[in-house]
Amino acid sequence: MQSSFILLLAFAASTYGASVAATKRVKKSAPEQVHIAQGDMEGTAMTVSWITDKKVSSVVHLTDPSGNVNVVKGKDEATTYTFQSAYESKPYTSGYIHHVTVTDLKPETKYSYQCGDSTTMSATFAFTTPPQVGPTAPFRFGVMGDMGQTNNSAATMQHIISGGYSATLLVGDLSYADSAWKPGMFGPCSQTRWDSWGKLVEPLAANCPLMVLPGNHEVEQDGAPPATQTEFMAYQARMAMPAEASGAKEGNLYYSFEIGAVHFIMLNSYGDYNATSAQYKWLAADLKAVDRSKTPWLVASMHAPWYNSNVKHHDEIQETGMRDSMEPMLLDAKVDLIFAGHVHAYERTFAVANNKTTAGAPIHINIGDAGNREGPCPDYYPQPEWSAFRESKFGHGEMAVHNATHLQWNWHRVVDDEPVSADSVWLVKGSDGIVAAHGAGASASVYDGYQHLLNKKK
Ligand SMILES: [Fe+2]
Repeated sequence: MQSSFILLLAFAASTYGASVAATKRVKKSAPEQVHIAQGDMEGTAMTVSWITDKKVSSVVHLTDPSGNVNVVKGKDEATTYTFQSAYESKPYTSGYIHHVTVTDLKPETKYSYQCGDSTTMSATFAFTTPPQVGPTAPFRFGVMGDMGQTNNSAATMQHIISGGYSATLLVGDLSYADSAWKPGMFGPCSQTRWDSWGKLVEPLAANCPLMVLPGNHEVEQDGAPPATQTEFMAYQARMAMPAEASGAKEGNLYYSFEIGAVHFIMLNSYGDYNATSAQYKWLAADLKAVDRSKTPWLVASMHAPWYNSNVKHHDEIQETGMRDSMEPMLLDAKVDLIFAGHVHAYERTFAVANNKTTAGAPIHINIGDAGNREGPCPDYYPQPEWSAFRESKFGHGEMAVHNATHLQWNWHRVVDDEPVSADSVWLVKGSDGIVAAHGAGASASVYDGYQHLLNKKK
């Protein structure tokens, strides 16, 4: 471990309210806040996003392993958005936001790229495409929630970078721009905090697909007119998830994508989730289209947790209402795992449905503990029978997808060295959902398989 990272962790352990200082722009037309996301359902496309001060064209120079450079121009012009905070006298207008999708990528192949206008280009970044969709190719992905932009957020991100994952899920509450926190008060909603978050997350998100969903801090409707009334304005403009590719019609609010043996579903807790809603109908169609012979693992994520024994954010309407509406559908579809955030603590359940431990039901993992300015949530109700493990510490999760029947899940505290796992469990799948969850090394052959995955780290 590098000494600078040790210093960062030491500082992170001592403060969760401190914010990472924003950096200054270098050139007016220089790309900044570069991030990537899987650009289609199968992982053969990647969308590169960035921001410039000037209105310039959108171009990606993509270099394949043979050194061939493909110049890809954006289909759409860069856009801006204007947001009036309830607490600021002048409206904020964003920089020009560029999204360019590069296509026809080969699986498990490392590409390097620069983005810009062909004259002023970014630094060179690189990503490795995910394995082909199918039940056999192993891969690993990171999971975090409620990130923010404190020193703890940065430390969590460094842990995730060191993991070398094929993708990272961020299950809502990204920048916390909607309440630039000061001691003793919340506010104002400051859109410049999106820019500082974009710069903070670039070292991860420019090199590893960051797959996001909306949390309550993305709603950003923070007062009466003339404050902006359009919900999710910054989130929708700045992010570019594969929604259209998955048949969803509400921007980045909900969508699905696939990597290797996993079909991922990303949902919106802060929109309509009732049976008459577009989201509900889309989810029903998406679940119906899943081919479990190709993607035996089905993983759903949303921001507000359906099962959580922490006192904070307990039984909010977005939790109980969405669960009442959608849990029967996810049970019928035999969803294996459900990730959520919102509560700034870690909790893993046994297979649970209808508030009872239930064989074949999904395992829920609450992972809203990436390190935002609000701090961890330390208070719990008595532990329900469906709660397997819980701890109020900042950290992130790592899922190793071994094959069609075995996953390994690890939760890492940010205060520990990255190889230390505070909760490690194998999830074993039978014909009727997850049939076993047990500690690492339960069988030599399975454990050897995991070592093979570890050896694939960059
Ligand atoms: Fe939240």
